[in-house]
Parts: sequence; C-alpha cells; structure tokens
Amino acid sequence: MKIVVGPASVDLAEKISLQTGYERVAVATRVFPDGESYIRLEGNVEGEHVAIVQTTCAPQDSRLMQLAFIAAAAKRNKAKRVTAVVPYLGYARQDKIFLPGENVSIETIANMLKAAGVDQLVTVNVHEANALKLFPFEAKSVSAIPLLAEYFVQKGVKGAFALSPDKGAMYIAQQAQASLQGEVGYLEKHRDRYTGQTTQTASHLNVEGKTVIIFDDIISTGGTIVGAAKILREQGAAHVYTACVHGLLIGDAEKRILDAGAEEIVATDSVPSNASKVSLAPLLSKELKALT
Ligand code: R5P
Repeated sequence: MKIVVGPASVDLAEKISLQTGYERVAVATRVFPDGESYIRLEGNVEGEHVAIVQTTCAPQDSRLMQLAFIAAAAKRNKAKRVTAVVPYLGYARQDKIFLPGENVSIETIANMLKAAGVDQLVTVNVHEANALKLFPFEAKSVSAIPLLAEYFVQKGVKGAFALSPDKGAMYIAQQAQASLQGEVGYLEKHRDRYTGQTTQTASHLNVEGKTVIIFDDIISTGGTIVGAAKILREQGAAHVYTACVHGLLIGDAEKRILDAGAEEIVATDSVPSNASKVSLAPLLSKELKALT
C-alpha cells in the first residue's frame, strides 16, 4: 500500500505513513485564478493499493473535488485499488430528506467518488451511520472516542462524568465511559428544521461538584456545547471540559465555549485546529494495516 498525501491532511497522512511504514506519494496542488483545482501525483502508483488521506471540512467542495481528482489520477496511472481515507466526511449530516424538495447530499457525494475511481472509504465517527449505507462501495466508520477519553484519563480525570449533549449521541458518551469509568448521561436537544435553532434541557442529571466532560461528534458553531456548558454550570458542576472528534469550530466558537464555562476543548486532527490535541494516526494506521 502507498499513502497519498491529500492537501487537506498533510500532517495526518505523514504520521500514518510513518506509523504504517507505507511509502508516501506527494500531491502537487494549485488553485487557478478562477478558483478551479489542479492536482498532480508526484509518485508512481502503478499496481498499488493506494490510500488517499484527505479530510473534507471547509472548504468542503474544493476538498471533495481534489479527492475525486486524486482518485481519478490514481486509476489513470494504473493504481490497483483506491481507498479514500476521509477523516471528516462532509455532507454526512444530509443523509435523508428532512423537508420536501431537498437533496440527499451524501448520496450524491458517494456516487461522485465512485465515478472518480474510489473503491472503498474509511471515515471517522460519521455523523449518521445511515449515510454509509448510501455508498455504492464498502464504506466504514471507526470511532475516535476511546482516544479522546484516553486523553482525559492521562490528564488525571478518570472517573469523570461523560455527558452527551443530545440523546441520539448517547452511544458516544457510553464509549467514553468505558475508559473513564464514571457516570454517564445526556441532555435533550430539539432542532427546529426550518430555522436550525436548537434548544436543550437537562433531565435527571446529578452533576453537582463533579467533573463533567461533554462528548460530541462535531462542534460546528459551538451552540450545542455552549448550551450544555451553561446547564452544567447552573447545576453546580465543578469542572467542565469538552471533547469532539471533528472540531469545525466555526467563527468564534472556541471563545464562546470557553466563555460559557468549559475549561478546555479537545478535538482530533480530523480537522486541524488549535484544539487538535489527539491524533487519528494510530487509529487509521491500524485500520489500513488490516486492509492489506
Ligand atoms: C448534531 O447532531 C451534532 O452531533 C453536533 O451536536 C452539532 O453538529 C454541533 O453543531 P453546533 O456546534 O453548531 O451546535
């Protein structure tokens, strides 16, 4: 196998290459004055199974086009098999029709990647498992929650309360609880599909004087975590931390979360940022080793 270094995930791809011992293939990229993307593989892929490491956070559309172009170039240059390693899979939140007239965006992305030459996809904590059923090839999501929980164990907060800010994501808090060995709970979150506004309420939480870590798959605008941190502080939590797999951290999300009372934001390097304190390299390296 060779690791193709996608321009959106250079550091992560290099770590995966080091940890697996698989040779890297660099990719030259350019953006033309009119905004179009250019890519060129800088190594030989003939007869190889290649793993293209390319995250698809903002700007999602150009990163997806780069991924498609790299996959097509790999096939054109006689790669035997193409695995797309997409740590953050953009558009996975639109995995069904919520309102009449919408598109199932992730299905369109899946078909586009298939047409470009992708044979298989590996992602991390996809927002909805259902999204992967829409891919016309094998698509798998692995969980980085144990790695995030381990960060907090190493920090010395074993026994902390693992909280999900949304009942639907309770499985995430439960995965963290397996390492933290503390209590687990959730908040109720309701989203208005027309305005996008969310409201949260707490039920049956007993967090007074406790250290609580809020675990979520994505932090985007930070609204969900800000709401959760405020509830926890009102209910007397002694310390509040927050962890997510994909720290999109749009605009001033980081500041708003810290202002709301969270002491630290921890994310993986699926989306590189100041909060990327946990690398996905060991998890993805293990996954790629299992494919060969
Ligand atoms: C939603 O269901 C996700 O799990 C996250 O809670 C959501 O994407 C976070 O968005 P924001 O940071 O904008 O509240």
